[in-house]
Amino acid sequence: MLSEYVFFFALKGGGLLENIPRVLADNLAITLDFTQINIQPVFAWLAATGNINDVEMQRTYNCGIGLILIVAPAVKDVILDAVTRHGGNVIGSVTARSSSQPRVHIDKTEFSTNIQRVQRLLTVPKKRVGVLISGSGSNLQALIDATRTTIMGIGAEIVFVISNKENVFGLSRASAAGIPTSVLNHRDYKTREEFDASMTRALESQSIDIVCLAGFMRILSNEFVRKWKGRLLNVHPSLLPKYPGLNAQRQAIDAKDTCSGCTVHFVDEGVDTGRIILQRSVLIESDETVESLTNKIHVAEHYVFPIALRMVATGIVSL
Ligand code: GRF
Repeated sequence: MLSEYVFFFALKGGGLLENIPRVLADNLAITLDFTQINIQPVFAWLAATGNINDVEMQRTYNCGIGLILIVAPAVKDVILDAVTRHGGNVIGSVTARSSSQPRVHIDKTEFSTNIQRVQRLLTVPKKRVGVLISGSGSNLQALIDATRTTIMGIGAEIVFVISNKENVFGLSRASAAGIPTSVLNHRDYKTREEFDASMTRALESQSIDIVCLAGFMRILSNEFVRKWKGRLLNVHPSLLPKYPGLNAQRQAIDAKDTCSGCTVHFVDEGVDTGRIILQRSVLIESDETVESLTNKIHVAEHYVFPIALRMVATGIVSL
């Protein structure tokens, strides 16, 4: 059934401008949106080192786009749900074409801005990221994996993990990745402010630039939030401003919502009220349980949190 709506092709052995027309009918044009496409660092390096101009890059290389699915708008959300764990994203559109129009349209400014941004990234030191956890740390793992691949160009590395609980699985994940950890038990401090001050000291001792909250189950003091303002990110399991605080998945199901998702946002003094950086939605089925929805949202979080970190680390967004 889906085959009526979905068509895919792999971009092997050729560039965007050469390869796409081979599989697209004459009366169709494709627009690639290079505000949404991540040019892989190796292609940015190649262009700079080989002094290759933008059009030649597009003609000769796929710039990191390995597989394109063309899907009918009616099934877009279902397909996006299915491909999220493989890093799929909407990267363009197909429209009717007259014979005078190009087969593939790439906005010159979008492409050059994108490739120059990645080239700049290759020359600056990576931002040092500290991650605060209280539990399983699957988002921590997603951040570690994404910052260690050569293809994402995140411009940051995870160098320190703090947990307020002993023996949580996130600590084992950090150790397995060779990342130093520290357990700071909030019960050992008289006040929230003292606990937070001790976290700040630990983070500063590791020269941390950006702090990511990945399932950190403590409300932070105003002092801590102000200290790390613009450098403090949280991931929340709902499409904020809907359902801040606890039990977001349960609330979405009880409200009979048909979609939910996750939000990565800057942290401010409120609970889940800071400026939103990125969101990703997931569908809620009629038989959805809190557990199944939580799993779906986790997949979306693992996709979107590293991208939000990249946006902050590379200065695409700031407060
Ligand atoms: C995530 O769902 C996140 O949205 C919330 O806490 C959960 C942490 O999960 N803030 P994990 O520890 O990263 O697996």
